[in-house]
Amino acid sequence: MSESHYSLNGKRIILGVTGSIAAYKAVSLLRTLVQAGADVSVVMTQSATRFIAPLTFEVLSKHPVAIDLFSGKQEMMHITWPEHADLIVLAPCTANRMAKYALGLADDLLSTMLMTTQCPVVIAPAMDGEMWDQPALKNHVAVLRERGVTILEPEIGPLASGKWSQGRLPSEEAIVATIEEKLRETQDWVGHHFLISAGPTREPIDAVRFLSNGSSGKMGYELAEAAVARGARVTLVSGPTELAPPPGIEFLSVTTAEEMHQALASKFERATVLIMAAAVGDFRPRQVNPEKFKKQDWNGEPLELERTTDILAALSAQRTHQILVGFAAETSNLLENGQAKLKKKSLDMIVVNQIGGTHSAFGNETNEVILIPRGKTPQPIPRLPKRAVADRILTELHTFTVPASSHQPVSQI
Ligand SMILES: Cc1cc2nc3c(=O)[nH]c(=O)nc-3n(C[C@H](O)[C@H](O)[C@H](O)COP(=O)(O)O)c2cc1C
Repeated sequence: MSESHYSLNGKRIILGVTGSIAAYKAVSLLRTLVQAGADVSVVMTQSATRFIAPLTFEVLSKHPVAIDLFSGKQEMMHITWPEHADLIVLAPCTANRMAKYALGLADDLLSTMLMTTQCPVVIAPAMDGEMWDQPALKNHVAVLRERGVTILEPEIGPLASGKWSQGRLPSEEAIVATIEEKLRETQDWVGHHFLISAGPTREPIDAVRFLSNGSSGKMGYELAEAAVARGARVTLVSGPTELAPPPGIEFLSVTTAEEMHQALASKFERATVLIMAAAVGDFRPRQVNPEKFKKQDWNGEPLELERTTDILAALSAQRTHQILVGFAAETSNLLENGQAKLKKKSLDMIVVNQIGGTHSAFGNETNEVILIPRGKTPQPIPRLPKRAVADRILTELHTFTVPASSHQPVSQI
């Protein structure tokens, strides 16, 4: 990956393809974005499917292509996709599409997504010169620009009609540069090194059994992805999970609490932020049987346990400049227990979430938390996708920002 595409690494982009003769150029754009490390999902209008087959985009993006608002394959796609996106780019964008967007119509999947999104939108128009010059279109372009939508100028040159005028899809270089520029505006953690733990730990009882918990690791992985997307270098230390390591990060796989402690301690000195999102086991069997323990050999002796190291407390005692964030998984008295832990371990912030019951943080795609920053009023965060919770946490952490380190960009680890 070239350094100039660094800001695309790990970014989640929705590429909207509309019914223009230039739709084939979106294939090359998709490839460039994917090669630069972006996670691109394609949405096509019905008209766009008349120009190019969705399969092409599906294969190159490695994601299903979304077309129909009512397909029912994925519920509420018009809300969930934009919620997870860092940016939406419409390339090529038809005159019709810009009119719909300016008027606030929501009569198909792409237009409805544009009505729900909060992320930056970049539009690369392509159309006949007469269409681009239409006063009606000029009004729509002006309205959208006023609302903060970035609309590139189409290029002047030969068009599909054979005429020479302004209407050609802007060059791929111009589109990519604009996407990068918009994304760089949200690169607020460049120069920082996040050390993040995730997932459960496993404490062996014998050769096949272990003590563990139901943590999926999702929250820690989302934090890692969000931090990378916002420009940080990230080391993720993970216990056993079903999740694939996010792209663009340093990934250390561990099993026991002790291994997690060692891995985190080895990276702590150079980190600027430590987020302990892992559900580290508090106890481990005092003795581990190297063989499988036979059930007929058990005469009712209790399993003797001992405490594992309190990793966060141990690292907190060694801190020099790091921002420290802990998670507290509580079943009751969330606020009181969180505040006590924040103080006891000298943390900068604690994220309290509820476990157990139907709204448990464990294994769920969403999370409802209370952020308790040191010296500030606790902030309840409503139930949101874990990625959105991760972004709220990263934004809140700016209260404690330390001078940025001089680490290399992630792409050069
Ligand atoms: C062969 C052909 C090429 C077209 N090219 C364009 C184009 O480049 N730009 C444009 O705005 N409309 C173009 N159109 C018209 C759009 O396809 C039409 O306005 C359609 O309703 C757009 O739908 P959409 O915005 O939902 O994709 C073209 C139509 C045809 C038949």
